[in-house]
Amino acid sequence: MIVCVCKSVSDRKIRAAIAEGADSFDELQFELGVALCCGKCEESVRDVMAQSGVCASRCGVQQHEHVAPLTFYERQAA
Ligand code: FES
Repeated sequence: MIVCVCKSVSDRKIRAAIAEGADSFDELQFELGVALCCGKCEESVRDVMAQSGVCASRCGVQQHEHVAPLTFYERQAA
């Protein structure tokens, strides 16, 4: 089934990219170009990611059993 109409990317193509190591939404965007045109496919892409056991958020973490440390940066005045 075509997930991203704009770039003609199917769910099989997304699953293949995940099997080859793509582990974040950003990486799928970079590799396949999904959700870079109209953006309407983003939720469907994230659904395919979730079905494939990959975190559908932008964090790229596959298992949420641990909490990744957050780093905050202060903006300095010019
Ligand atoms: S359907 Fe994926 S960017 Fe438009």
